[in-house]
Amino acid sequence: MELVILDTEAQVFELAARQVAQVVRQTPRAVLGLATGRTMEAVYQGLVRAHRDEGVDFSGVATFNLDEYVGLGPDDPNGYCRYMARYLFDHVNIDLAQTHLPDGVADDLEACCAAYEAAIVAAGGIDLQLLGIGVNGHIGFNEPLSGLHSRTRPVQLSEATIAQNQGLFDIPERMPRQALTMGIGTILEARECLLLATGASKAPVVAQMIEGPVTALIPATALQFHPRCTVILDAAAAADLAQRESYRWQTGA
Ligand code: F6R
Repeated sequence: MELVILDTEAQVFELAARQVAQVVRQTPRAVLGLATGRTMEAVYQGLVRAHRDEGVDFSGVATFNLDEYVGLGPDDPNGYCRYMARYLFDHVNIDLAQTHLPDGVADDLEACCAAYEAAIVAAGGIDLQLLGIGVNGHIGFNEPLSGLHSRTRPVQLSEATIAQNQGLFDIPERMPRQALTMGIGTILEARECLLLATGASKAPVVAQMIEGPVTALIPATALQFHPRCTVILDAAAAADLAQRESYRWQTGA
């Protein structure tokens, strides 16, 4: 795991956007794994700026989102399809036919998840997977006790995730209790992972992810097995790391 600790969250979002833009410049047909949530909003704004001001070209890029709520269709304002349109897809020259999200309103959710896995393989696998982290250690919607080799599947959302995300819904009670998510095994197959965490609320779980033992209780600890995983933190999210100073020294940040 490579760790970068920066002073402010703005620096985290800027560096992450620069790294994604660099992958797209180097690999015009890159396959990106995308995340949603509060952390990613500013990263996507950075990518929109890179497209507008620096001509970063998304026309050959394919994307696979990590997750979607069960029961929310592509036009639902609280669904991740609309989120991606709002923050990224409507503002860059991406081919929408090459953007993929799990179908939360599929008749057969299991079959839809199997097809999602097959589509990732058919696209050549994910070059760069963007990740946030939940306060309970989830990545995607892999909640505590998710199998460390799990694949894309329907899952039940935990109380911690419901508490974390229901404020993002116009009517909080309407937040679904189920979602479809890439599995931990699926995520670990990405050629590169880039996880971002900012703010004091993430500090305890970030310390467990980086310094704790690998455990299904904290799904993000599985990233310790990934051969090319970068974690970018602001000072607040890094605050509980026991070895904080030595990591700063190692990364030169
Ligand atoms: C969303 C996702 C989640 C979020 C995590 C952090 O697609 O995969 O794992 O990354 O819940 O969310 P924020 O950024 O809102 O704190």
